[in-house]
Amino acid sequence: MTKKSFDELYREWEEKTRQLLEQYPEQRERFETLSGIEVQRLYTPKDGTGMEEIGFPGGYPYTRGIRPTMYRSRNWTMRQYAGFGSASETNRRFRYLLDQGQTGLSVAFDLPTQIGYDSDDPMAAGEVGKVGVAIDSLEDMERLLEGIPLDRVSTSMTINAPASVLLAMYLAVGEKQGVASEKLTGTIQNDILKEYIARGTYIFPPKPSMRLITDIFAYCAERVPRWNTISISGYHIREAGSTAVQEVAFTLADGIAYVQAALEAGLEVDRFAPRLSFFFNAHNHFFEEVAKFRAARRLWARIMKERFGAKNPRSMQLRFHTQTGGSTLTAQQPDNNVVRVTLQALSAVLGGTQSLHTNARDEALALPTEDSARLALRTQQILAHESGVTQTVDPLGGSWFVESLTDEIERRAFSYIERIDEMGGAVAAVEQGYMQREIHRTALETQRKIESGEEVVVGVNRFRLEKEPQPELYKLDPHLAREQVERVQALRGKRDGEETARRLAALKRAAEGDDNLIPFILDAVKAYATVGEICNTLREVFGEYQPSV
Ligand code: 3HC
Repeated sequence: MTKKSFDELYREWEEKTRQLLEQYPEQRERFETLSGIEVQRLYTPKDGTGMEEIGFPGGYPYTRGIRPTMYRSRNWTMRQYAGFGSASETNRRFRYLLDQGQTGLSVAFDLPTQIGYDSDDPMAAGEVGKVGVAIDSLEDMERLLEGIPLDRVSTSMTINAPASVLLAMYLAVGEKQGVASEKLTGTIQNDILKEYIARGTYIFPPKPSMRLITDIFAYCAERVPRWNTISISGYHIREAGSTAVQEVAFTLADGIAYVQAALEAGLEVDRFAPRLSFFFNAHNHFFEEVAKFRAARRLWARIMKERFGAKNPRSMQLRFHTQTGGSTLTAQQPDNNVVRVTLQALSAVLGGTQSLHTNARDEALALPTEDSARLALRTQQILAHESGVTQTVDPLGGSWFVESLTDEIERRAFSYIERIDEMGGAVAAVEQGYMQREIHRTALETQRKIESGEEVVVGVNRFRLEKEPQPELYKLDPHLAREQVERVQALRGKRDGEETARRLAALKRAAEGDDNLIPFILDAVKAYATVGEICNTLREVFGEYQPSV
């Protein structure tokens, strides 16, 4: 009996399905991902790209992962974002999480620090130590990192406009611990474009901001070679309401702008590109998220090789951190969030993340309690040590659905990047408000779908409870803010004020010229100049960004 061909079998399947549909119609007219990509009833070998486009893990274009062995050699870094109140309070949480098995640090700063104001600045009132740790000076940074061996722990700092100042403080603490800057490992977010687009903690206009960023690239290439100088972020773009496709497109368009700016500053691409890193969201629609990470990796590899002529393979490898989607957490039935976070974390792992933060179940309500923070970390540990998903590289690779989605996300993201190129690149697109408008349009559409019930949010627009559970929540000690204000005022009294003033004046002169500013900022930090004093000195020269939209 001759074997039926694939086409014959496929036609038989189609006929059987058609008959069944009359009796059992499908739940929707059209199934689609959150980016609006249609999801077929079935995927077969006729869907998706062939092996030559996909490649092998650790090989160009890195679709399947940046390293040949991935988690078989080393699990992703479990790096929980943490920070609140004072440096000592946050140091306690850091050490707790390290004791509980987390393998990297991630610092959340309060808004005054992020926007370059000291805790005693009137602009800081009500925000000191609230959404992150208050860091005013090197003294606070020493407390934050007390007892943490910087030659063994890598630290991420979510800091953008004043990234150069906090990096300088970190280098100074390393020096005090006797760790040479060449040995320090970590990351500063340092991604000002997404602050203009989505997050809002900017200070200076684009031009001086890009100068500070490329000064950091140049300084670290020379003196801190293991430091990841930027974490080009899609996380907040997604949190602002973008689709997965827009998240990839706008993040990589920002990446292109940073590479372009560094080249224009005279840097050679393979000198700085290996230390660029990325930061993405792990959102809902599991398979789209897995495909999103794979598409982003392949697209970035192609951009670096074909557009910028990178030769070093490390310049083409998109290394990224992932945080599960904060905006998907619900205040209702908080325990449900553990399930959401698990699925999202799994998508990041199957997408090949290098580092991961899992949200805590109560974070739609407050900063996480210690119990919730531990459960969030345990979620990663169960994935790593019990699920078996680390045993082979890119387990979903070769799935006709995932490869087809990877292709489609790459194609759609690339056409966005072409449109942004036509506008003159990401900085011009930001100044024209293009990305902001695209994100707002999508966010509005999503909100409409949730309000109409078309998009189900369990516990919120379906499966609600009459009486909501009342979990115990973290309460920030109200005295911490006042104590922080007293600390920074006492610091000013005990430092050598004249020396501090001299170094701030030298920084100002350098900012008026075109020297690399990092050495001047480092000098000021070592004389216990504060974040606010350094940023105000730069404000005098650079002014502040005034959004056009
Ligand atoms: N084979 C060989 N070597 C391997 C390996 C393998 N399978 N796995 C890892 N390694 C090596 C790496 O090469 C690396 O060595 P190198 O530095 O000399 O290259 C070392 O082991 C560490 O591995 P990774 O670099 O992969 O992992 P890290 O965790 O150190 O770095 C990163 C990951 C993405 C590159 C880095 O930039 C990072 O940690 N980013 C984190 C950013 C972050 O935490 N952001 C939080 C933001 S919070 C926020 O903004 C949200 C708020 O606003 C709400």
